[in-house]
Amino acid sequence: MTGNMQDAHTAHTALSGKTVLIFGGTSGIGLDAAIQARRAGADVIVVGRSADTARRVATEHRLAGWRAADVTDAQALQQAIRDIPRVDHLVLLAGTFVSGTVREAEVSHLRVAFEERIWAAVHIIRALGDRLSADGSITFISGSLADRPNAYGTAVLAAASAAMEALARGLALELAPVRVNTLSPGPIDTPILRKALGDARDPVVAHLEKTLPLHRPGTPSEAGAGVVFLMVNGFMNGATLNVDGGARLV
Ligand SMILES: NC(=O)c1ccc[n+]([C@@H]2O[C@H](COP(=O)([O-])OP(=O)(O)OC[C@H]3O[C@@H](n4cnc5c(N)ncnc54)[C@H](OP(=O)(O)O)[C@@H]3O)[C@@H](O)[C@H]2O)c1
Repeated sequence: MTGNMQDAHTAHTALSGKTVLIFGGTSGIGLDAAIQARRAGADVIVVGRSADTARRVATEHRLAGWRAADVTDAQALQQAIRDIPRVDHLVLLAGTFVSGTVREAEVSHLRVAFEERIWAAVHIIRALGDRLSADGSITFISGSLADRPNAYGTAVLAAASAAMEALARGLALELAPVRVNTLSPGPIDTPILRKALGDARDPVVAHLEKTLPLHRPGTPSEAGAGVVFLMVNGFMNGATLNVDGGARLV
């Protein structure tokens, strides 16, 4: 094999025989990570809240399986993954764009930012127990808000995102030799923007196109590639990988 052929072969087999479980794998960044992990040879199981969507994307992209569960419901998620015998790479991306100012939003709403991220991670890792391979990995998601917050009702989401990075570093020690990392994207053009902003999505993207160094938000595939990199590179551990097109610089 030539060097290039060897590289291509490695890329297509890097996750061969591995089981990858992706919470939030039915849309956006998670779905793209699922597609890329399958191309690298993995058996991929995706989880989202909507069973119809999860079933549809798993069929369409020839994934190994799907589950439906709300990550804020510990019992439901335990039940959803109870029959999976082993997981090599666990990816936790499930979450919504929780916004609202600290003075005005309902506290029950703001709490969701932590429920979907920190507490979901705790419940999922406990539920998997020793079914998570010792030579595997966990990948969390945070976001550039963690380092560069704004004044538009995202303070609690920024705090939950930063907390994921800290949780990853702590778990990289607590769960060693399992590797634990965080992907921290900047603005990525996924369905989350329309879900969160409705008609305001287009002016927000137009603003990003004016202000970001690359004059565009990222694509799901650019962020998904970061997730797969964190899975396959066996020396990435306790790290936060920024895939933000320089959003933190402006
Ligand atoms: N896009 C960005 O600019 C950006 C930037 C920084 C960080 N992030 C973070 O990246 C993650 C993925 O975002 P995305 O842009 O790919 O969003 P997306 O396209 O809306 O996908 C979100 C995924 O999470 C699932 N999900 C959401 N809430 C859930 C819950 N409570 N329980 C189980 N599944 C749930 C969704 O499934 P259902 O639709 O069936 O619920 C879907 O599979 C989110 O945590 C988001 O905060 C995104």
